[in-house]
Amino acid sequence: MKRRFLIAANLKMNPIPSGATVSGSAYFWQSKVDVVVFTTFFDLQGCAQAGIVTGAQFGRPEAHGAFTGDVSMAMIAGRGARYVLCGHSERRRLHGEKDEDVSRQVKAAIEAKLHPIVCVGERAEERRRGAEKQVVERQLRALPLDAECLTIAYEPVWAIGKDALRAATSDEAQQMHAFVRSLLAVERRETTRIIYGGNLNADNAEGILKQRDIDGGLIGGASLIPEEFRKIVEIADRLS
Ligand code: PGA
Repeated sequence: MKRRFLIAANLKMNPIPSGATVSGSAYFWQSKVDVVVFTTFFDLQGCAQAGIVTGAQFGRPEAHGAFTGDVSMAMIAGRGARYVLCGHSERRRLHGEKDEDVSRQVKAAIEAKLHPIVCVGERAEERRRGAEKQVVERQLRALPLDAECLTIAYEPVWAIGKDALRAATSDEAQQMHAFVRSLLAVERRETTRIIYGGNLNADNAEGILKQRDIDGGLIGGASLIPEEFRKIVEIADRLS
């Protein structure tokens, strides 16, 4: 089964790249490729109003209450966002989010009619001792894997950001994606998208996106450079 590529920009705590909201930029949904931009909470509504398919980088499962500094899934949906990231490794590390928290976020997102993209991935030390599949399986088993509306992002922690060791090779990524797919509910196995994140850029995108079980990318650093992001979207378009 052919799945549509999903190319997602994770802007993290950065402003929208200049020119991104000008109609026709690569940050808009394309005819053959789904493009989603994960902005800060501040930029969500403006981007959605400009016609960009938008997501939040985190959402709290409770609808409202005494949660200083947080924003609920329902509030995010109310600002016109369609997607939400759950369990990004920076949230797991800096905010102590556990598998159970991520699972609650996913369920609340689906209830609020947001499409969750759940990040899973092992740390360098876990891969060194050969525990990468065990870690990813534990992260996945906590999730409602039979949900119709769910995307998984495999992001090995050692491949993310400027200080990364390197991006995963196409083979490493494909092997883990095939493993993730094998753990999905049978009825969702061929339709659920599994995207790769971790130093995906215009140079390695083709090799990675060509893999059988890789259905797109979650792009941090390279998504802040409009020209680079456009090239990745074009590669996905060409491979579609
Ligand atoms: P990167 O970030 O592309 O800068 O490695 C990816 C991510 O953290 O989602």
